[in-house]
Amino acid sequence: MVNLTSNRLTRRCVLQGIAAGMVANGFATGGAIAASKIPFGVAVHLDPFRQEPRFRNLLKKHADLIVPMNALKWASLRYDRDKFDFTGADEIIDFALQHGKSIHGHALLWYHANPKWLDAIRSARELERLLAQHIEQVAGRYEGKIATWDVVNEVVAHDPLTQGKWRRGIWYDLLGPRHVELAFAAAARAAPSARLFINDYDLEDDSLRTEARQTAILQIVRRLQDKNIPIHGVGLQAHLYAERGIGRENLGKFVRSLDALGLEVAVTELDVIDWKLPADRDRRDRAVAATVREFLEALTSAGQPRNVTTWGLSDANSWVKETFPRQDSAIARPLPFDANWQPKPMFHEIKKFTG
Ligand code: G3I
Repeated sequence: MVNLTSNRLTRRCVLQGIAAGMVANGFATGGAIAASKIPFGVAVHLDPFRQEPRFRNLLKKHADLIVPMNALKWASLRYDRDKFDFTGADEIIDFALQHGKSIHGHALLWYHANPKWLDAIRSARELERLLAQHIEQVAGRYEGKIATWDVVNEVVAHDPLTQGKWRRGIWYDLLGPRHVELAFAAAARAAPSARLFINDYDLEDDSLRTEARQTAILQIVRRLQDKNIPIHGVGLQAHLYAERGIGRENLGKFVRSLDALGLEVAVTELDVIDWKLPADRDRRDRAVAATVREFLEALTSAGQPRNVTTWGLSDANSWVKETFPRQDSAIARPLPFDANWQPKPMFHEIKKFTG
């Protein structure tokens, strides 16, 4: 029997498996909604985690999976070139282990949130060596604890139609497309038990730009598989814009293409950007919940995601507030709990899918 989840996954072996009528990686193919519970994940920002007992209580009660939001980024771990600081990451990971939660790691390579000294490097050889060492240290330290990793985050250009396929930044500029292969190969060596993901945003609507982004992800996945470099899944960040709508057919097609390649899908950073919605609180909360429902219905009708993770839990701590400020004086309400840690319609909507 072909093992569709093995670390030595090739395109040919996946196609053989599908021809033999197998179901890949727990996806219910053929449009069926799988009956089992989808784990609910929460990304944890260190400040409220340390300061807010209500946050920790809600995590204990509701989260199946925990993601350190920033603590595993280069900027947090590698402020100084010569020493790693695992303090914040360990705090969150110890909490997760103590309370029986799974852990998703974010992220081993990103063009953003890097220490200044890293962005100043000009030698490809030096950068390649640093990348391998970093992944060996970080993924190796948490081997057996972190179940899934965003090995690379946002490596596709914002708009491949006008900018070319790849995201510009230190990794691409010095190492070229190879940076993705180097990262996945290093992660597979350092954390052989972990499931390895490529993570990106704007994969959920039906614009031509989104289609181009989906195509770029599929090309990257195929290239890794052709080279026998393990990749197990794609993370849909799902920073949803309430005004955009969900590209139901497009999303379904993308998820089925990934399924055919033997890959899982996870929802990794769900929240709803509500800057264009009416200010009225109840109307806004209902529209945010409806956006989440539309997305999760479209997704689960194509296959069961590995988990659904929100990028934070309470509106009190969200990047959306600053990055997408509203024209009026209303405060963003992108997450499942309000600023007083009370559940909103979005939470109840997610629970319908995650049980
Ligand atoms: O490191 C300092 C810390 O020393 C200080 O105490 C603190 C005071 O607020 O600021 C700290 O750094 C901030 C860091 O978050 C941790 O709080 C950075 O200035 C701030 O830029 C950083 O923002 C994060 C951003 O990624 C960049 O890393 C956001 O919280 C986080 O939500 C955002 O997450 C990204 C995902 O990783 C990838 N996808 C998009 C998503 C939203 O931008």
